[in-house]
Amino acid sequence: MTLFRRKSMQDLGHDAVDDHTLRRALGPWHLVLLGIGAVIGAGIFSLTGLAAATNAGPAIIISFLMSGFACALAALCYSEMASMIPVAGSAYTYSYATMGELLAWIIGWDLVLEYAVAAVTVAIAWSGYLVSFLGDFGVTVPAVLTASPGTVITLVDGSTVTALFNLPAVLISVATAALLILGIRESAQANAVIVVIKVVVIIIFVAVGVSFVNSDNLTPFIPPNTGTFGVFGWSGVLRAAGVVFFAYIGFDAVSTAAQEARNPQRDMPIGILGSLAICTVLYILVSYVLVGMVDYRQLNVPDPIAVGIDATGIEWLQPLVKLGALMGLSSVILVSILGQSRIFYTMSRDGLLPPFMGSVHPRRQTPHVALIVIGVFVAVSAALVPLRVVGELVSIGTLLAFLLVSVGVWVLRRREPDIPRPFRTPWVPFVPLLSAACCLVLMLGLPGDTWIRLVVWLVIGLAIYFSYGRSHSVLARRGGDARERETTRV
Ligand code: ALA
Repeated sequence: MTLFRRKSMQDLGHDAVDDHTLRRALGPWHLVLLGIGAVIGAGIFSLTGLAAATNAGPAIIISFLMSGFACALAALCYSEMASMIPVAGSAYTYSYATMGELLAWIIGWDLVLEYAVAAVTVAIAWSGYLVSFLGDFGVTVPAVLTASPGTVITLVDGSTVTALFNLPAVLISVATAALLILGIRESAQANAVIVVIKVVVIIIFVAVGVSFVNSDNLTPFIPPNTGTFGVFGWSGVLRAAGVVFFAYIGFDAVSTAAQEARNPQRDMPIGILGSLAICTVLYILVSYVLVGMVDYRQLNVPDPIAVGIDATGIEWLQPLVKLGALMGLSSVILVSILGQSRIFYTMSRDGLLPPFMGSVHPRRQTPHVALIVIGVFVAVSAALVPLRVVGELVSIGTLLAFLLVSVGVWVLRRREPDIPRPFRTPWVPFVPLLSAACCLVLMLGLPGDTWIRLVVWLVIGLAIYFSYGRSHSVLARRGGDARERETTRV
């Protein structure tokens, strides 16, 4: 059955040395910085307060630990795959080798939710921070140009206006895609500068804030459950872990750049695990300082870190933190669009998407057409869609990808036990299965309408696969049918 054709290790080796290829320009530090660039963003700068105020209270620190633990398991699985299969495309590519073309397509299509839709989400959040940052300096962006159509905005004088579209979100999306077209080295350097600024701002926040921590704010550490599942108590800690999972999304984006890494076998695990470890430590410090400085009940706002700064009374920190947030959000958009373009590039070279998506600019060595298509998609969506529709879709899409990669590690260990693995996930199958189980639990915690949107998205993807990809697949033309195996073999 053609649905189960999958890539052999030979096919993947062929992909890795494909000479119409991207430029190998990234060293281990670039990769760690790419990971941090993709991770620290709207999650820590916006969602932390919401989750503390409505679900976990000061125990948001435990939620960050739980979510970080689940991500660490997935990161161990990604590290094995990315060092063994150093081809752009991440979870899509690994699924092609482990679970066959149909599942690979589904996961590739699903990754649009993780990368392109994350870029949309974060571009909308960026717009909010920009308006507020400029406002601190007396610059007013016309309110009609700052939100999705139909959003009613109340102005300072109490009057209301109805928004037309979100202009700052469009501008940041277009600027980011343009930078990515310029070159991977240029993009990685811009990302490195941005990441250093945002990490320094976070460290200043923690260093200044820690002396304002008041132990009264930390008691009771786990506020008693109100009687409703997910509203404080241990169930609230769990629900909050699902919410702040968004803050960790992105460390796996490192693996989409495998084909641009100078030494992917060694550096992929460093990039993935290193960036996740640094972000986890920063998140735990920030959440401790935040709920220690301010009563958690005051944190149900879009800019909780700014509320934390207010508590210190130190005025110069306020614009600095907003600048850090703007930087943080920009790099998330940058790396998300980068990841998306590399996945489309690989899918196109596999014949599952049209050839133009895989064309590489002769001088810039970037997949420029894919970047233009994604840039337009992100800009138009960010202009028109409200924030709440997209955020949870990103989490469910990412969790599905993590789940399949985790299962894939185990499948490939059984199917191809002897191929060299520069990095080995410890305690297989325990770690991959625990990772898959954690992802499933977090997915089950997401609302029903998010599941419906996921299913609708996947059905659209299947329609595209059966009308285009299946018949254009390069693997089928290379004779992949001869290697068909049922996935049930494992
Ligand atoms: N982890 C990314 C963020 O929090 C998606 O913005």
